[in-house]
Amino acid sequence: MKKMIALLVTLVAGLVAVNAQAGNVEAGKAATQKYNCASCHGADFNSPIDPSYPKLAGQPADYLEHALVAYQRGASGSNGRGNAIMGGMAKPLSRSEISDIAAYLGSLQGSLVVRK
Ligand code: HEC
Repeated sequence: MKKMIALLVTLVAGLVAVNAQAGNVEAGKAATQKYNCASCHGADFNSPIDPSYPKLAGQPADYLEHALVAYQRGASGSNGRGNAIMGGMAKPLSRSEISDIAAYLGSLQGSLVVRK
């Protein structure tokens, strides 16, 4: 019985790992266009329209994904981020849109990353 449970746990962990795979770059590009993310972060996501808006191009996808989920959680959520602008931008995003957007932005060349 213990072996069965161990096997089950391994299988479930495997499924979760597969589920957490990187998002789709093309779908992510489409999503950034749909939500007009470039209007602040810049057309190439490396030249924001204001110095207070971060460069996103080339940042690690897992970091970007985490940041977007954190904006959804808000300042009062555990491990969340409170920001009026990005809280509003992140709210309507689905979990898969977030993965796709993170994969797309992470795939771009940006001045924050000198080598890939
Ligand atoms: C109205 C301007 C505006 C728009 C539109 C906008 N952002 Fe932002 N974004 C910001 C600002 C300002 C910050 C910095 C917020 C902070 O200090 O936490 C930010 C931060 C971020 C961060 C965190 C970056 C980091 O280095 O931690 C990510 C990721 C991000 N935006 C993605 C997006 C995506 C994806 C969209 C489109 C769905 C989008 N943004 C649309 C203004 C904007």
